[in-house]
Amino acid sequence: MTSEMPPYRTGPELRELFLSYFESQGHTRIPSSSLVPRDDPTLLFTTAGMVQFKPYFLGQSEPPNHRLTTVQKSFRTTDIEEVGDTTHLTFFEMLGNFSFGDYFKQGAIEHAWELCTTHLQLAPERLWATVYTDDDEAAALWEQTGMPVDRIRRFGASDNWWGPAGASGPCGPCSEIHYDLTPDAPFHDDGCGPNCECGRFVEIWNLVFMEFDQSEDGSRAPLAKKNIDTGMGLERLATVIQRVENIYATDLFKPMVMEAAAVAARSYGEDPETNRALRVMAEHARSAAFLIMDGVAPGNEGRGYVLRRMLRRGIRFAQRLGVTEPFLGRIITQAVIPLMAAAYPALSDAKDHIVQTVTREEEQFQRTLSVGTALLNEVMARMEAEGESVVPGEALFRLYDTYGFPVELAEEVAADRGLTVDREGFQSQMEAQRVRGRAATSFSGGPESVEGYRLLSGLMTQFTGYEQARDESTITGLIVGGGLAESASHLQQVQVVTARTPFYPEGGGQVGDAGVIRAPAGLVRIMDTQRPVPERPELIVHTGVVEQGTVNVGDAVVLEVDSAQREQSARHHTATHLLHAALRAALGPHVRQAGSYVGPDHLRFDFSHAASLTEHEITALTHAVNARVIRNIAVHSLVQPIQEALASGALAFFGDRYGNDVRTVSIGDVDNTDAPFSHELCGGTHVHATGEVGFIYITGESSIGAGTRRVEAVAGSNADALLRDRVSVLERLSRHLNVPADQLEARVADHLQEAERLRRRNEELERERARSQIQSLLQRTATVGEPPVTLLSARVADITSVELLRDLADRTRSALGSGIVVLGADVDGRPSLVCAISADIAERGDAYDAARIVRQAAALVGGGGGGRKDFASAGGRDPGRLDEALNAVAGMLT
Ligand code: SER
Repeated sequence: MTSEMPPYRTGPELRELFLSYFESQGHTRIPSSSLVPRDDPTLLFTTAGMVQFKPYFLGQSEPPNHRLTTVQKSFRTTDIEEVGDTTHLTFFEMLGNFSFGDYFKQGAIEHAWELCTTHLQLAPERLWATVYTDDDEAAALWEQTGMPVDRIRRFGASDNWWGPAGASGPCGPCSEIHYDLTPDAPFHDDGCGPNCECGRFVEIWNLVFMEFDQSEDGSRAPLAKKNIDTGMGLERLATVIQRVENIYATDLFKPMVMEAAAVAARSYGEDPETNRALRVMAEHARSAAFLIMDGVAPGNEGRGYVLRRMLRRGIRFAQRLGVTEPFLGRIITQAVIPLMAAAYPALSDAKDHIVQTVTREEEQFQRTLSVGTALLNEVMARMEAEGESVVPGEALFRLYDTYGFPVELAEEVAADRGLTVDREGFQSQMEAQRVRGRAATSFSGGPESVEGYRLLSGLMTQFTGYEQARDESTITGLIVGGGLAESASHLQQVQVVTARTPFYPEGGGQVGDAGVIRAPAGLVRIMDTQRPVPERPELIVHTGVVEQGTVNVGDAVVLEVDSAQREQSARHHTATHLLHAALRAALGPHVRQAGSYVGPDHLRFDFSHAASLTEHEITALTHAVNARVIRNIAVHSLVQPIQEALASGALAFFGDRYGNDVRTVSIGDVDNTDAPFSHELCGGTHVHATGEVGFIYITGESSIGAGTRRVEAVAGSNADALLRDRVSVLERLSRHLNVPADQLEARVADHLQEAERLRRRNEELERERARSQIQSLLQRTATVGEPPVTLLSARVADITSVELLRDLADRTRSALGSGIVVLGADVDGRPSLVCAISADIAERGDAYDAARIVRQAAALVGGGGGGRKDFASAGGRDPGRLDEALNAVAGMLT
């Protein structure tokens, strides 16, 4: 057998070679989609090239071409714990070609064979194929390439069936190409070949024959067309082509590992544990950079938690090498960005944001670790004293819940001391917390849970509120006291369903409408409107109280939305879109909506961004939004298929559920009112043109967790009222201080300075007044104990702070020379005690311990304290017993 090697090609060359080969075969090159799937709430991350094309496979929308090719950023969570070995990755790039109802098995196999053997120049005799158990067609096609039959192997579903990605979706049998790493070596046994555990073979390319749509219950229906989805890991391909030992030795990884080694001042290759840690540092730095670039922020759930866990894992591995300072930012700027930004330019744009996000997370985790470790050590010391050896689940849970201290880490720290931890106990505490959490969020005033709305099954409501605030309809369902009812009477709480409604149900951050429903013999005041069952968006429920008479199922009703509130909500909603677009324009495309509140009173917008906004940025943002408000630009909405909406560049966000047809809202820009400044998927109610927003005013900017910021603002009449209030405060102040408003700042600064000067002067005078008591205090000494010591235990007057009392005790001790000073005072109604002992006495040992003396004395006034052997202080609650406490000191010394 020959062992001819393929030519060396860099990672970037391989990406280009793949894409241009498929372009030459009639495929259209499509950019990688985000690691956060935009329109697939069933998936946490983009795990393969096919994810962005799911609607094409399912026939829900038409692809731009029946042949597409991509290099897709992908992230898989399954192998995080393995990363550090030489084969597993979290983030990787997947090269893929796709056919939608165009070529099928034959085309896929022929293209793959041609690319591998002709363009990549892999030796044909090193290539093996696997096919699904009964896929004779694929096996025959491989034979036609000239591959010997004994190099075509059959496997079951665990190896040769792919998909669905997520809970449901396209899937099918697959066929893989495997590469023989050591063709000249003898086989270790007869069965050796692809998928053999000996590691001789590496899978390089997976060709999936997408034929079925699998439902959540596991049943499969054939797809209307037969499709192809292939995936080849770039990192593995580079390993083979570059003839290196493993992925970390390819040009795609080596500089990152080297940078990690420089950070740790180690050399790669030193020993297996060091190598492993350096690989973890490099891999996690790279993955984190991409996740953050795509808008993920470290957090405690979902994607944010995956990112946090991975970052923390990286930090802990680095710590084992003695790295205790933040290091991820350095690997990212020195190696990840230089290596990857040519292919992913957004990485450079988001550089500051990425570095700030990881660095903050590192600093925060360091604090968690030091506080948590100290507490855990205390717990363990107590346990050891009591002969216990298992750290209780309750303690582990407290550490986790209060400080975010990971249980795995607690386990390691405990193992270092020869102790174990009660993981089961920890788990049951976690479960108990989840149950508490659920109980706290159950709906009140209506059915106890979403389950209750099953009562309304079959009912649906048509929403008619985009263009009107009033409509006529019929009551189709009523719930009173948690059960279905035929009618509801005066003052009863009720939930009303009608066939049509102009009431906007809460969604997309916008609160539900309020208003009234008028029936022939009654009136219901509506406080809130919801779509209570997420899987049944067609059910809209109004919640309110019967204010007059009675209402019945079947009543013809008039529904009137409180239009003043609705208009303010619409202003805030349009303002939110403008703000979002302005934030992206100013800060970069990593800005991703993380949540919002749009109500009649104000708006709140949460987004991924690491740094706080400067005053200048806030001013610029306000200006950017108001510039578009003044131009009175038309706000357009359009209902269209989701793929068309996404293809036109509309922003969509995870957590929102979208159907096949979606509504987009777009707002033009200043110079060209046709070019969208803002373009988002949105079901909310908006103004017709931006002028109706009035103007916006940003009221606050804050952090709501690592890498996530919050902006709050008001628009329309709320902005007007707020500014009027603020201006009138200014006017009152200006009258009060007797200066024009533009001189207020200088005047207030003068006053503050003067106040500070007086405060210091007062402090000085008080200190002098207190110290003036020293001479008379020295007259009140006594000699106590054996050997005798001089004791001065006295109450002093005119003490306004504990600091003053400490200063006086210190001064009195110096004036006394040798002896013990205990001073007590009533400081603003609280008894304070200070004990100061001269060095010659303190050295005599425990009988003269200042901390012990104050503590015992303080016990009499209902308090405690402590300090050093020669100087200690204490406080209590009962000033009436202060003299008693001071008198007791003499007795403690004999
Ligand atoms: N979807 C298949 C995979 O991820 C081929 O792209 O392996």
